[in-house]
Amino acid sequence: MLRGAIIGFGEVARHGHWPAYEKSREAKIVAVVDRTDERREFARNLLPGVATFSTIEELATGAEIDFVDICTPPALHGEPMLSALGKGWNVLCEKPLLLDPVELEKARSLATEVGRAIVPVHNWKYAPIVRQATQLLRSGIIGQPRRVEIETLRIQDCAVADPDHPNWRRDPAIAGGGILMDHGWHAIYLARHWFGEAPNDVRASLHRSTNNGVEDEATLTLTFPTGSAKIFLTWRAEVRRNAMRLIGERGEIAIDDDTLRVGDESFCFESALSAGSHHADWFAAMLPDVMASFRRPEAAGESLEEAALCLSVIRSAYQNPM
Ligand SMILES: NC(=O)c1ccc[n+]([C@@H]2O[C@H](COP(=O)([O-])OP(=O)(O)OC[C@H]3O[C@@H](n4cnc5c(N)ncnc54)[C@H](O)[C@@H]3O)[C@@H](O)[C@H]2O)c1
Repeated sequence: MLRGAIIGFGEVARHGHWPAYEKSREAKIVAVVDRTDERREFARNLLPGVATFSTIEELATGAEIDFVDICTPPALHGEPMLSALGKGWNVLCEKPLLLDPVELEKARSLATEVGRAIVPVHNWKYAPIVRQATQLLRSGIIGQPRRVEIETLRIQDCAVADPDHPNWRRDPAIAGGGILMDHGWHAIYLARHWFGEAPNDVRASLHRSTNNGVEDEATLTLTFPTGSAKIFLTWRAEVRRNAMRLIGERGEIAIDDDTLRVGDESFCFESALSAGSHHADWFAAMLPDVMASFRRPEAAGESLEEAALCLSVIRSAYQNPM
């Protein structure tokens, strides 16, 4: 059983990660680090027997752990990540992994130097309906994928728990961007996962409702060597919904929230892709792969490559919007 500490006990830690650890036989949370008194107190009340600390330095002297699980807001991922690697701990970190490519390279080389893994939370790959779509695609049922379409409709951005930054998702200094950095990250690694290659061209059109605000709508076209992906994301929709299409040489796999269709067959899943924001079941499905990466860090590079690609595509979209 590997022992871990959650860094940042906000919404995703509470509703997405903790319930999965509670049932895990491979990983156990023994400590929580949060900057604020209220979230530490909240964690103490909810998780009896789990030690709480206000900094990583206190954690290092107060608990023995194998890994950290970083759930702070995006601009606050880098510092605990580098510090944890420096202490010889493995790192699981929420998306967007890092906002700065220089920092990502620094973290990557430090991880290699100390022989530890950095694993991003790319949990959408583990949604049951997405897993089935991936299995069908890999079975060859629709032939080589030629086009991927991913649509994420939201009526607003997601609520946060950080008492110091109650609206950080709309603050570029903390979020690193708007909906493209938030939901776009998931869509980009899914497109890469399905094509099995990196795109060689990125086109983006971004909408901002206020002059200095972050984008609340984004359309992204990625050209891959063997096909293309169109990604549409909005926080201004009238309905909450997720839809995806994988179009291959010989057919199509379509996901419409809780329904997957391929040919004449249709499968209905227990929960819609757009249901909830924290997905404890997807996180639970991902944990065995995360723990395997911590046990064999030298084989853990793939998801870090995915994260590096997400960051590079998003930066390119921000630098050259249409
Ligand atoms: N993969 C997913 O499906 C998914 C879903 C939701 C959120 N997320 C990601 O999870 C991360 C957290 O999002 P959230 O909605 O839980 O945010 P949140 O604001 O609810 O929680 C952040 C927590 O971090 C704490 N914190 C802030 N700075 C800290 C520091 N330096 N050290 C220790 N604690 C600190 C805050 O006090 C707060 O408790 C973000 O990166 C977000 O993008 C991912």
